[in-house]
Amino acid sequence: MAWWSREPPTPKGFPVASPDALRGELARRMAGVQRHRLLQGFPMAPMMGPSRSGVVAPRTTDPRRPVILGVLPHTFCVPAIKGCGFCTFPHEANEASQMVPLALTIAREIAFRDPLLRNRPVRAVYFGGGTANLTSIPALAVLVGALTGHRLPDAEVTLEGVPRFFSAEQLDLLAGLGPVHLRISMGVQTFDEGWLQRMGRQHIGSPSQVEAAVALAGARGAATSIDLLINLPGQPVAAMLDDARRAVALGVDQICVYHLVLRDGLPVPWASDPAMMAVLPSNEAAFDAWRAVRGALLEAGYTQSTLTNFERAGARPFVYEPMSFAPHWCDALGFGPGAITGVNFGGPERALKWTNRATATSYLGARLSRVELVYWYEPFEEALMQLTRGLALLRVPLGQGPLAAHARVFAPELAALQEAGLVVVDAAAVTLTERGMFYADSVAGLLAWRSVTHRGAVGLNEPAELHMG
Ligand SMILES: C[S@@+](CC[C@H](N)C(=O)[O-])C[C@H]1O[C@@H](n2cnc3c(N)ncnc32)[C@H](O)[C@@H]1O
Ligand code: SF4
Repeated sequence: MAWWSREPPTPKGFPVASPDALRGELARRMAGVQRHRLLQGFPMAPMMGPSRSGVVAPRTTDPRRPVILGVLPHTFCVPAIKGCGFCTFPHEANEASQMVPLALTIAREIAFRDPLLRNRPVRAVYFGGGTANLTSIPALAVLVGALTGHRLPDAEVTLEGVPRFFSAEQLDLLAGLGPVHLRISMGVQTFDEGWLQRMGRQHIGSPSQVEAAVALAGARGAATSIDLLINLPGQPVAAMLDDARRAVALGVDQICVYHLVLRDGLPVPWASDPAMMAVLPSNEAAFDAWRAVRGALLEAGYTQSTLTNFERAGARPFVYEPMSFAPHWCDALGFGPGAITGVNFGGPERALKWTNRATATSYLGARLSRVELVYWYEPFEEALMQLTRGLALLRVPLGQGPLAAHARVFAPELAALQEAGLVVVDAAAVTLTERGMFYADSVAGLLAWRSVTHRGAVGLNEPAELHMG
């Protein structure tokens, strides 16, 4: 009998559901929209509580734990069509005059968090949040200045944005952070001109603008990462494969393949277009298409490093993503509007997640600290976070971090997931099957269901529909 099929310990007050209830809940989740990137990890915003003071006091943590930084310089972008038709990321109309005030405020936030940063090795910095390459040069210079003096030995430094706005000046500024490894990350979505027009992206992300950005990165010794969307409404699998082939031909270091998240009621233009919604693929058809694209990238010599990321053979392995999925040994500090932080202080009050105020105005208007929502983890929930974050790396070892003590708590959920063919569990690890990779949102959601239901039931928060993933 496997260890995980023995009677599991039940954390006090977090009652486990029966096998039938778990099967039913899993089926419900698998029939819904699959956000298979697992971008947020546990818990998502609806489960978090408001920060009463708006401040998480500056304090120190174990300086040996490595740290990664997410810097969100602003919330702006300039799509020709609202949200490019599909985008679920925060985006506000561009207010160029707010770029420098925001950067100065972020610099103050970085200084406020100095006890968490000082003398700690920063392994990766990600300037992101959407369209970070829209940041003006004076504002970017303020942010670079705020990080100068911190330990960034050999760190990976990424600038995210739309193909059109990358410039030599930006990359040269970032290179000033020291002997770092630069990378650019941009949305391509598709190379198909018809779709680019439907997205309004023909002037910010045309194939020639993508090529120019890749060439600029090459000239500056920067690595390249591109996003492709698959399962667009009515898109044939052959067209998805064609996009993947063109991405491979460009020679980029990392290709991120995102299954389109679209459902009725999502606040994006395509969700209220009946013609588009009518030709969305079923989950099983979308899984088949994802599997075909995955197979093509593996055949082209790319290695799958996360649920969505494929890395070119011979490319320097990326740092930010794998570390962001390993909260048991790495802290992730977020700065700027909408930024997310996950830290482990050690001791009785251990793991904490917080999110910053999300809009430019609310972030600028807040005093001292910019914290909006917080969540202190129960000890077994720390293991839950490790498990649900770790799934993005396809295999979660069970003998490390909080999971070493708490893995058996999840035995009922893991049994239901294994029965459904989504994971393989043995004494050493939980490994996603190929099907489990596509349905990773449902896997993570079932694992978190106990906490979500319990905390909702005891009134700590309102469980929103399917809000884990
Ligand atoms: C925040 S965007 C950054 C890219 C950059 N702003 C651009 O447009 O080129 C990150 C990526 O998320 C993906 N994305 C956005 N909305 C999505 C959705 N509804 N479903 C799946 N992926 C989505 C897109 O591929 C996008 O390139
Ligand atoms: S895909 Fe990029 S440019 Fe388009 S709305 Fe989203 S963040 Fe803005």
